[in-house]
Amino acid sequence: MAAKNNQLLVLGIESSCDETAAAVVSSDASGKAIIRSNVVLSQIADHAAFGGVVPEIAARAHVEALDGLIEAALTDANVKLDQIDAVAATSGPGLVGGLIVGLMTAKAIAAVIGKPLLGINHLEGHALTARLTDDLAFPYLLLLVSGGHTQIVLVKGVGAYERWATTIDDALGEAFDKTAKLLALGYPGGPMVEEAAKAGDPARFVFPRPMKGDKSPNFSFSGLKTAVRQAANSIAPIDDQDAADICAGFQLAIADTLRDRVKRALERFKERFPDVAEPALVVAGGVAANQQLRETLRALCKKYGFSFLAPPLKLCTDNAAMIAWAGIERLREGLADENAMTTAPRSRWPLDEDAQALIGSGRRGAKA
Ligand code: KG4
Ligand code: ZN
Repeated sequence: MAAKNNQLLVLGIESSCDETAAAVVSSDASGKAIIRSNVVLSQIADHAAFGGVVPEIAARAHVEALDGLIEAALTDANVKLDQIDAVAATSGPGLVGGLIVGLMTAKAIAAVIGKPLLGINHLEGHALTARLTDDLAFPYLLLLVSGGHTQIVLVKGVGAYERWATTIDDALGEAFDKTAKLLALGYPGGPMVEEAAKAGDPARFVFPRPMKGDKSPNFSFSGLKTAVRQAANSIAPIDDQDAADICAGFQLAIADTLRDRVKRALERFKERFPDVAEPALVVAGGVAANQQLRETLRALCKKYGFSFLAPPLKLCTDNAAMIAWAGIERLREGLADENAMTTAPRSRWPLDEDAQALIGSGRRGAKA
């Protein structure tokens, strides 16, 4: 593609779940990315009382916040709307109310400034983030673990993905959130469980390692959740030390499971791409904040000769910089969808359209 087209300035919008976000990202003549601004408003406080995301509350909060966030993103970037080359908005998968808010706003801006609109798959945003932060070459593996997604994806190129694994029931973040709820630790559960586990004895409760040894790299977490409930019930009423021990045992079971499942994927990658000299595993999603899980994966990668990339947390969790960047990658490859102005948001939108649907779905199965 002509060098001129490497110089792009894109406004990104994200509203698929419980973060409202806007960002401006540019690429210079050499194609290098610069995050000009990246503003995120989390709705955690709005949903905390319910122990999870309430779609109606989320949609209303997006409506209230989005315009102001877009303005803030433009101001932070010192950019005027007419300088923008394109608008990229998440158009799925996710909660449809929020998607409508983001996509309609993006359509209106694109129409006013007469520039292209890109409807971006949220999962593609996560998948390409490592190229925004680390200039990583294709192909590589992505482990996406958040409140809504648990997937291992082979990233072959822009728009070219193979989903190698998914959860057959709950998402991993959901398992953390449900465990925290059961132990009355608060929401979101992941950071609470991690903190409690520090004071716990991981050997007191031995929980199942779901799918361990299974030939596919798929995940399952609902059995683990049930085992946690049974353990808590068997010693109720529980005190702080009991909760800490349960959390430590739970987290160790997750770490063992992830090690086993991801190991399968690393082996498969090596078989498939024996000539890739520097294979890489990228992690994304809120659960990637967990230190024990990070260290487990880092050690596994070292053993298998993979580099381990964990983008800064702000870019690992939901944000609009990743959406703007996916827009830039698509524009550069000539992959912008010409019908974007008339397409509707998709609550379900697998990154790999050929991937088999698996039985079962979690509370937020649309994204898992
Ligand atoms: O990516 P994210 O911010 O939002 C979406 O789900 O899309 O991920 C949030 C999830 C929640 O389930 C939260 O409990 C989990 O990430 N999480 C963690 C940690 N921090 C956040 N899970 C385990 N350990 C953590 N430190
Ligand atoms: Zn996400």
